[in-house]
Amino acid sequence: MIIRSAIVAAVLTSVVLASGCDDMLGGEPDLKALSEQWNTGDKQWSDENLLRLDRGQKFYKRTCAACHMGTGEGQVSVGAPALKENAFVSEEVDPLIKLVLEGKGTMPAFSHSVTGLELADILTYISNAWGNDSGMTFSMEQVDQLR
Ligand code: HEC
Repeated sequence: MIIRSAIVAAVLTSVVLASGCDDMLGGEPDLKALSEQWNTGDKQWSDENLLRLDRGQKFYKRTCAACHMGTGEGQVSVGAPALKENAFVSEEVDPLIKLVLEGKGTMPAFSHSVTGLELADILTYISNAWGNDSGMTFSMEQVDQLR
């Protein structure tokens, strides 16, 4: 009995520790709030794509916003162009994936520091944020094919 409750305690502890990781990305996503944020006009994103946009926003903030800003406005002092209302971001697919994998000028390459899934989520986010409105989603397979 004592052994069994020790095992239960150990399992519970690891569940708590593992779920703690979610907090690093801001806790459990709220699908209703995401739907209000993204399903505007006649848009109807699936729950899966809402979660992808949400993850993309969080990864973007962590990985790209230092230069391109959380608002997508870019930053003249580091030479980072605006990504908002940017046709390159909302219309290109392969060239956009390649640029982020390989870097350009002073923008670092991300092929070794970001997973295919993270990058797919980031690109899904930026091509729909700040008026880019592409309606596109990117998959991990698309990204990994161009690595
Ligand atoms: C260290 C600063 C820095 C970081 C971090 C950074 N970028 Fe950039 N980014 C730049 C610079 C500088 C350019 C301009 C490169 C050039 O044209 O020489 C650029 C260009 C771009 C472009 C091309 C825009 C256009 O209109 O040509 C895209 C798209 C882009 N970045 C996306 C991203 C994404 C997505 C991330 C995160 C995964 C990211 N960047 C992280 C500095 C950065």
